[in-house]
Amino acid sequence: MVSLRIRHIAPSATLAIDAKAKQLKKEGKDVVIFGAGEPDFDTPENIKLAAKKAIDNNLTRYTPVGGIPELKKAVAEKFKRENNINYDISEVIISCGGKHSLFNIAMCVLGKGDEVLLPVPYWVSYAEMIKLAEAKPVFCNTDEKFKLTAGMVEKKINEKTKMLILNSPSNPSGAIVEPDEIRKIADLAVEHNLYVLSDEVYEHFIYGNRHLSIASLNGEIRKLAITSNSVSKTYAMTGWRIGYTGAPPEIIKAIDNLQGHSTSNPSNIAQYAALEALAGPQDSVKQMVKAFGERRWFIHKRLNEIEGISCVEPEGAFYAFPDISGTGMNSIEFASRLLDEAFVAVVPGIAFGLDNHARLSYASSIHEIERGLDRIEKWARQATKK
Ligand SMILES: Cc1ncc(COP(=O)(O)O)c(C=O)c1O
Repeated sequence: MVSLRIRHIAPSATLAIDAKAKQLKKEGKDVVIFGAGEPDFDTPENIKLAAKKAIDNNLTRYTPVGGIPELKKAVAEKFKRENNINYDISEVIISCGGKHSLFNIAMCVLGKGDEVLLPVPYWVSYAEMIKLAEAKPVFCNTDEKFKLTAGMVEKKINEKTKMLILNSPSNPSGAIVEPDEIRKIADLAVEHNLYVLSDEVYEHFIYGNRHLSIASLNGEIRKLAITSNSVSKTYAMTGWRIGYTGAPPEIIKAIDNLQGHSTSNPSNIAQYAALEALAGPQDSVKQMVKAFGERRWFIHKRLNEIEGISCVEPEGAFYAFPDISGTGMNSIEFASRLLDEAFVAVVPGIAFGLDNHARLSYASSIHEIERGLDRIEKWARQATKK
C-alpha cells in the first residue's frame, strides 16, 4: 500500500540493531551495546536551565519557520568563531536536527538525473536521502585507512555530478579528510561547478588534527559549499532535535519554503536550549572530547588484540570500524551471532557500504567498553572460522 518512493528506502540498520539489543535488555539479558550513535553524557545543566526558563517565559508558540533570530545570529557567530566562515543571518537556517537539515538540503538541491558522490564507508542515511530526492548515489573509494583524496573524487566526476558529500570526521570510520586534500577537493568543485555538502556534526571530536571547513577556504567554494551541523553530538543533545545549515541565500530560502510546508519551526524551547549551547560556556565540550579520546585509545588497542579483527586508529568521531574478515564471517553474520551468542550489539558494516567491517560506538564508559570487548575476545576465539 505504501508508495514506490518509500518502498525503495532501506530501513536504518543502526536503529534496527539498537531496537533488537534494547528488546533483549528488556527481557532481562545483560547486553553490552556498541550500537548507539549518541554521547552517553547528559545535556549540560546550563542548557537544560535555558529550556526550563523558556517554558516559564511562555516561549512555547510558533517561531519563524527558519528559527528565532537570536539563534540564527548565534549560529552565524559560531561559524565565524569556530569555522572561519562569514555567513550572514540570511545564509543560516535552523531545522529539526542535523538529519532534517541534510534531508532538506537533498530535497532542495537534488533532482532526477543528478549524481551525488558518496565516499565509502558512508553514514547510512545519506544514500537513502539521495534516493528520496530521486538522484543517484555514486560511491567513491577511500584508501585502506578510509581516507578520501581529491584524486579519488576526480575519477568519479562526470557531467551529471551535482554534489559531493564530505563527512569529516566520518561516521562510521572516524577518518578525517586531510586539509591539503580538502583544498584540492575545493578546487575540483569550483572547476566542475559541484556543490559540496559538508556534514560537520563530529567537528569537535578530533583527536590530534584540526577541523577545516571547506566553505572557509575562499569566495568561490563558499558559493558551492553547504555546511551542515547540529547540537546533537557536540552538546549531548540528541533528543532536542536542533540542526543548522549555512549556505548561499537561495538555498536557505528554498529550505525555508520546504520547511514551511513540512515541519514549520523546530521546537521553540529546544531553540532556546541550543542558543545557550552555542553562545554559553563551552567547558562541557572539552570534557566530553577528553573522555572520548581516552576511550578511543583503549578500544583501538583492545580490538587489535582480538583474533580475526584488525582496526585502523579512528582519528575522530566516537566510532571504531574494525575489519572483521579474519573471522571468516560477513558483517551480518558477525553482528547477529555476536548479539545472539555473546549479547554484544555492534552495527554490521554492510549498512555503511563495507561488508567486511563492523561499527562499534565508544560512546559508553570505559568499564562498559571493557566488558564488551572481553566478551567479543572470548566469543571470537571459538567463533572464528579456522
Ligand atoms: C554523520 C552524521 N550526520 C548527521 C547526523 C544527524 O544527527 P542529528 O539528526 O541528531 O543532529 C548523524 C547522527 O547520527 C551522523 O552520524
